[in-house]
Amino acid sequence: MSASLDQKPFEITITRPDDWHVHLRDGEALERVVAHTAFQFGRAVVMPNLKPPVTTTEQALAYKGRILSALAASNHPDQNKVSSFEPLMTLYLTDTTAPQELERAHAAGVVAVKLYPFGATTNSDSGVTDIRKTYPALEALQRLGMPLLIHAEVTDPSVDLFDREAVFIDKHLVAIRKDFPELKIVIEHITTLEAAQYVQDGDSHLAATITAHHLLYNRNAIFTGGIRPHYYCLPVLKRETHRLALVKAATSGSSKFFLGTDSAPHAAHLKEHASGCAGCYTAFSAMELYAEAFDAVGAMDKLEAFASFNGADFYGLPRNVGKITLRRESCQMPESLAFGNAKLIPLRAGESLQWRFVV
Ligand code: DOR
Ligand code: ZN
Repeated sequence: MSASLDQKPFEITITRPDDWHVHLRDGEALERVVAHTAFQFGRAVVMPNLKPPVTTTEQALAYKGRILSALAASNHPDQNKVSSFEPLMTLYLTDTTAPQELERAHAAGVVAVKLYPFGATTNSDSGVTDIRKTYPALEALQRLGMPLLIHAEVTDPSVDLFDREAVFIDKHLVAIRKDFPELKIVIEHITTLEAAQYVQDGDSHLAATITAHHLLYNRNAIFTGGIRPHYYCLPVLKRETHRLALVKAATSGSSKFFLGTDSAPHAAHLKEHASGCAGCYTAFSAMELYAEAFDAVGAMDKLEAFASFNGADFYGLPRNVGKITLRRESCQMPESLAFGNAKLIPLRAGESLQWRFVV
């Protein structure tokens, strides 16, 4: 660190971070967003909820090829940095995923498998209808040491939207962990005090990612002065007590929590809609947003482990060798970003950021 924590301006240089949960999409959307992630992060775990979903090794490798081509064509001002980015591929778990497919995926370098409960979120129509049906697959993941990434929300319409994560833990996660005690599990984008507590109390096979938006905002953000669709994501923002619990977990120094933006681009007109899509776009300024959340509680000294060490250690991958520098300095976010014929509205659009990504 180049200055003491209470001085302004303040710069911090940390190991190049990784994003352990991102949506890069495909086609033109991919071309528009991929360099945002690749500029800030050394690697990212790329979600498989495309249409159709990435359910086979062959599809994952083909998708990786399209990501690398989009990067090569991105014309980013720092093309060297962007080209050194490594996408870490995942498979989409279905009721019928075969153990042999997971063995092939593992051998091909696919890093993890994502469990979406059927109907839980964007493109989850091929998701799991009954977790017991996936037990042969979970057994294979446990044997291979391949992490299972979980969108941990029940979809039962009789369960209140704000309780769906806590209910998933009680109803499903406890049983999965009992039946597969050696299975590595990441609860993705945790949003509640209950989830943070559950992960903290769990053994070393259990970890969680936390988004910048869940560290910075509570559910009031969705309803301030009118309905604000760009703050709508799933799992939905929760009340302030939960946000505070997430900040505490992320800044605690515990190695069980790490960075996962869940940056999820949707065209503006599909979010500003009677039935708007879920997802916050944070990749454009991800590290600036995380720095703000850590700085707000005087925990900048905890940012590097959260962003650059804990995820790599959990996945059993080497830590990055490059560095990035962030500076505490106000800067303006654009109103929108190019997104083909549509517009992409990033979180904080038209507002100011408190940190700047220097290099
Ligand atoms: O807000 C979200 N957007 N949550 C998800 O789980 C999926 C994501 C997306 O793909 O748009
Ligand atoms: Zn996601």
